[in-house]
Amino acid sequence: MINKNLVEGKVAVVTGSGQGIGKAIAERLAEFGAKVIITDINNEKGQEVADNLSASGMTAVFRRFNVTDFENMKSCVEEMKNIFGRIDIWVNNAGITGTARVDEITLSDWDRMQELDLKSVFFCTQAVYEIMKAQNYGKLVHISSMAGERGGRSSSCAYSSAKAGVLNLSKCFALSGGKYNITSNCVCPGRTLTAMAEGLSWLKDPADAPEKTIPLCRFGTPDDIANAVLFLASDLSSYITGDVIDVNGGLYMK
Ligand SMILES: NC(=O)c1ccc[n+]([C@@H]2O[C@H](COP(=O)([O-])OP(=O)(O)OC[C@H]3O[C@@H](n4cnc5c(N)ncnc54)[C@H](O)[C@@H]3O)[C@@H](O)[C@H]2O)c1
Repeated sequence: MINKNLVEGKVAVVTGSGQGIGKAIAERLAEFGAKVIITDINNEKGQEVADNLSASGMTAVFRRFNVTDFENMKSCVEEMKNIFGRIDIWVNNAGITGTARVDEITLSDWDRMQELDLKSVFFCTQAVYEIMKAQNYGKLVHISSMAGERGGRSSSCAYSSAKAGVLNLSKCFALSGGKYNITSNCVCPGRTLTAMAEGLSWLKDPADAPEKTIPLCRFGTPDDIANAVLFLASDLSSYITGDVIDVNGGLYMK
């Protein structure tokens, strides 16, 4: 039986949910009944998201969590599990972008992007995977990018390559998690209006105006992405794993 409240009573962790897409995901999961753990490196913003949800009668707490704290990864994730006793939904959302062209990317650019946008996703998932296996239940959702599917246009190759890696590691967790009732899927946002977008050329270049380039004639919003995550985090998607939902207004059709 599918619970009509979609994620009622489920415990969800969203990385990088102090602002932007992560914040919208945390809000949407909380609205549909999940107990949400907001995590971010920005204490003020993360706490504010949790406080606002709590003030509206939803269940949300904030924990500072740096997704690149590899040494303490397992203990941090275990501490999060202890807050509500389990973790049903884990959304790998935290990320950074870059704009260096292929002939400009330095070793340190490359390493930073792989560490924050790819390595962190793997080790966060590995840590929560143990908890989900023991529960015989888990919904893993990873925020990749349209750039990971078709190469970085306004974002750098270091970014798009890391996001392509996320698409692949999601399939690896889908392959090994299936027998434990764990699904692993990605959402690939297109051009989405957040603080991250402010550094990208498509936001300002008249040639990239959405009426000219995007079939649905507008940029995406964090809520557009959150709606797809809600579906993948709920039991409505129980027979979908290792897959991808593109949320890009039709800008890229496979
Ligand atoms: N905005 C877009 O157009 C777009 C397009 C495709 C994919 N994405 C992806 O969506 C995700 C969210 O992006 P956004 O646009 O909301 O970005 P954003 O910059 O607005 O928010 C990112 C959040 O991640 C947090 N964060 C950064 N480093 C962290 C770390 N080490 N540990 C924990 N938290 C950290 C930040 O504090 C911030 O709250 C990212 O993975 C991004 O790559 C965004």
